[in-house]
Amino acid sequence: MKSWHDKLPCQGYVAVFGMVACTNHSPAPAAACPQDLPQACPSSEPSYQHDVAPIFTNRCVVCHSPDGSDNRRNYASYAAIYANRSAILDQVYACNMPPSGAAAPTLSERVTLLNWLVCGAPDN
Ligand code: HEC
Repeated sequence: MKSWHDKLPCQGYVAVFGMVACTNHSPAPAAACPQDLPQACPSSEPSYQHDVAPIFTNRCVVCHSPDGSDNRRNYASYAAIYANRSAILDQVYACNMPPSGAAAPTLSERVTLLNWLVCGAPDN
């Protein structure tokens, strides 16, 4: 299967991905969820080590760890995040994750995360 980021830069990608995101099982709060998928990797890529890992630690690992409520997905390691980058992009973009009730990423954290994922989730 070709992974989603192989399709960049493709003009139809955002629309296609938007439809994929819209088919997610949980009813996304459409009005509240920004439609802000970056169209291309920005020239200054976010750094996994400095920018992105702390977001996973603060927003995801409480549940996505061996002792968490979803211990099948452990987002404490780069390898596991990278392997699941497509599902993570889908869930974060659709505002399905973190679930309602858990602290949502700030807009700045969301933009950092989406930019990094659109850059292909580099280990940088
Ligand atoms: C409050 C706990 C909690 C937090 C915080 C949380 N998750 Fe989840 N997540 C879950 C649970 C529980 C599931 C399993 C849901 C299911 O299988 O129906 C899940 C499932 C997922 C899935 C798989 C969904 C699918 O159907 O493919 C992804 C991807 C995901 N989470 C990403 C994230 C990311 C990224 C973050 C942080 C930005 C995050 N989650 C924060 C509890 C959480």
